[in-house]
Amino acid sequence: MPRLKVVLTNSAVPLHVEAAQVFAGLDVDFVTVDASSEDELLRLAGDADAVIALAEPLSRRVVEGLPLCRSITRFGIGLDGVDIAAATEHGIWVTNVPDSNYREVAVHAITLALSVSRRIPRLNHAMHQNGAASLALAAGTRRPDDQTFGLLGMGRIGRRVAAMAAAIGYRVQAFDPAVSWADASALGVTLVSFDELMTTSDILSLHVPLLDSTRNIVSIGMFSGTEKREEEHFSGMKAGARPDIDHGREADHFTFTICRLLHAGRSFANRALVT
Ligand SMILES: NC(=O)c1ccc[n+]([C@@H]2O[C@H](COP(=O)([O-])OP(=O)(O)OC[C@H]3O[C@@H](n4cnc5c(N)ncnc54)[C@H](O)[C@@H]3O)[C@@H](O)[C@H]2O)c1
Repeated sequence: MPRLKVVLTNSAVPLHVEAAQVFAGLDVDFVTVDASSEDELLRLAGDADAVIALAEPLSRRVVEGLPLCRSITRFGIGLDGVDIAAATEHGIWVTNVPDSNYREVAVHAITLALSVSRRIPRLNHAMHQNGAASLALAAGTRRPDDQTFGLLGMGRIGRRVAAMAAAIGYRVQAFDPAVSWADASALGVTLVSFDELMTTSDILSLHVPLLDSTRNIVSIGMFSGTEKREEEHFSGMKAGARPDIDHGREADHFTFTICRLLHAGRSFANRALVT
């Protein structure tokens, strides 16, 4: 049997060290490449029998440029970066690693939520700017026991976030059609409708996969329209509410837009979202 070529398309994580050990002694040439464009990726990985990708988008064009490829492994959870239809048409298996980093993502989500909730970015900024941070900057900070932590999606990551939020003292509520009442209440979580989640959460944490059915689920019209539309979008949220995002690549745009608006000191329908 000819030697196989396995290409890891990202050297940013130390995975290549472990993977090289796994492949050592097998008839496998294991190589790690970093490509800055589809063309470069195709040039470097075009003869791969298997591809391991971190977050590099594997579009139809890339998939179709891998004639020998039999499997694409996403070293992570979300599969939205892989054109699964194209891979399926070409008989390529697509796999992921569902438990790869859900703990870290959950910790990160809680860290961000607490950071914003406790006004850390604002205080930190003042400290850097002025060498002092006035307590007035933290005015309005509320203790977790007085706040409701909302989760859109309560799978692996959402559950982990729910447990931590509950331990901190938040009231935790969630919308996830796949979760039973019994399951939720065992975690101390109240299941609510989508609308209730949007209108009664102080912190909203998104943990749904990026699918056609969830794309822009919270940010309807946000990317296509004017700031007015963005404003309208958030007008349904509870006063002072903060979104906390973990939603595939779309999240970057969403988070970016939120940050841009926050930096601009925007408020939403007269409800301050600024932290
Ligand atoms: N930002 C990051 O660094 C990062 C890292 C890992 C994962 N993720 C993303 O987080 C997502 C969630 O990961 P997970 O491990 O918790 O996945 P999971 O499959 O365990 O859970 C997803 C949950 O979302 C629910 N869901 C689906 N559609 C919904 C909808 N319309 N409304 C409400 N709930 C809905 C599902 O029922 C499921 O319980 C992944 O798909 C991935 O894209 C992001």
